[in-house]
Amino acid sequence: MKLAQKHTKIALGYFLLIALLGVFLRMFAVFEIPVNYKFLVHTHSHIALMGWVYTALTTLIYQLFLKDNIPLKKYKILFWAMQCTLVGMLFTFPFIGYKLFSILFSTLFLLTSYTFVYFFFKYTSAQQKVMQSYLLIRNALIYMVFSSLGPLSLGIIMNTAGKGSALYRNSIYFYLHFQYNGWFIVALIGLFFYFLETFSLALPSTIFKKFHYLFNIGVVLTFFHSLLWMKDASITLNSIAILGSILQLVAFVLLLKHVIYNTNEIKKGSSKLAYFTLKTIGILFFVKLAMQLVGAFPIFSKLATSNIDLVIGYLHWVFLGVVSISIFFFLQHFKLLKMSRKVFLTYLFGFFTTEFLLFYRGALVFLPLKYLGNFNIYLVLVSGILLGAIAVIFIKQFLKKT
Ligand code: HEM
Repeated sequence: MKLAQKHTKIALGYFLLIALLGVFLRMFAVFEIPVNYKFLVHTHSHIALMGWVYTALTTLIYQLFLKDNIPLKKYKILFWAMQCTLVGMLFTFPFIGYKLFSILFSTLFLLTSYTFVYFFFKYTSAQQKVMQSYLLIRNALIYMVFSSLGPLSLGIIMNTAGKGSALYRNSIYFYLHFQYNGWFIVALIGLFFYFLETFSLALPSTIFKKFHYLFNIGVVLTFFHSLLWMKDASITLNSIAILGSILQLVAFVLLLKHVIYNTNEIKKGSSKLAYFTLKTIGILFFVKLAMQLVGAFPIFSKLATSNIDLVIGYLHWVFLGVVSISIFFFLQHFKLLKMSRKVFLTYLFGFFTTEFLLFYRGALVFLPLKYLGNFNIYLVLVSGILLGAIAVIFIKQFLKKT
């Protein structure tokens, strides 16, 4: 078995685990459960970002950029060191939350991620270094390192401004923003460019330059979105967030035009399911960018930042929708994952129904909608469908094809 296939299974194992934890967290609203909710949210979010998404993305990057050049032993040592830090987090966060040992494992994880970045720069060839996909993935990895300034500054902030300060919360948001809007999304766009390059469909270089600048300036400016929760947030912060969101939408349209122009080539080289998945990702990503723009306006930013359902709905739209479905797409395209149409549709059904329920409950605050009795039970049930789909995807990787 290919190394990357084995690592894909490990990543999927984390996905299954966080889905289990996610459903368990939703059960707290239905049953009395004598477990620390906050500690479980920490476990869920850390293993989601670092276990599932990080392992899957670095596996794809290894498979496409590193596998022919990096000494296998070195890569294996790094991979297993990183896994040890994840297992460490898994056995500390649920029991102690943010304390010495869980912080220690998270910090060790950061060190392994810096080593991965070093390997990426060291073991990619001169030929690879001029590819558009390389430039995007390089930027994504820089965002990853940059995002870590957030957690690294927490110790100092805790001892100066304090845990209840705006600075403390903002440095967590700094980390989260540059993780998912920087590292994850830009890496996925880089993988999409790699996909286009395999069809010899790289962007004309002037358009690529425009796209690259617009999107990356957008990544930096949309960080101001994360500051809009503050009561004294000024209109300037809103304006910067609006500008960043518009730049990203313009960049998206540039890329979309190129893709539409070359639809036939892409269609010819993809299976029906892959093409359908690609269209789904395009729609999900467009909706994410549109929500980002709308949420940057003062009336909506006030509404959204104080509404937990809208925040969790938006975050999971990005994580379970844009990010996880894109990862499925690339893993499948590069032959690291098998997934049937049926299970993918089940996943989509679970995803859209949970999102519908979260946004519906969020909208109750400002729209005259009817409150659904047993709402929390429905939410557990539809999250269970999502969990079932993820479990089937995971198990199927171990079955021999008949
Ligand atoms: C079946 C799948 C999932 C379910 C049912 C689920 C459910 C939940 C729940 C109930 C919370 C706690 C909300 C709260 O009380 O603050 C949560 C938080 C979170 N989830 Fe998920 N989740 C799922 C998948 C994912 C995935 C795939 C990711 C990322 C890749 C993710 C990332 C997060 C993050 C970062 C938080 C913390 C948000 C915050 O602290 O504001 N989740 N999730």
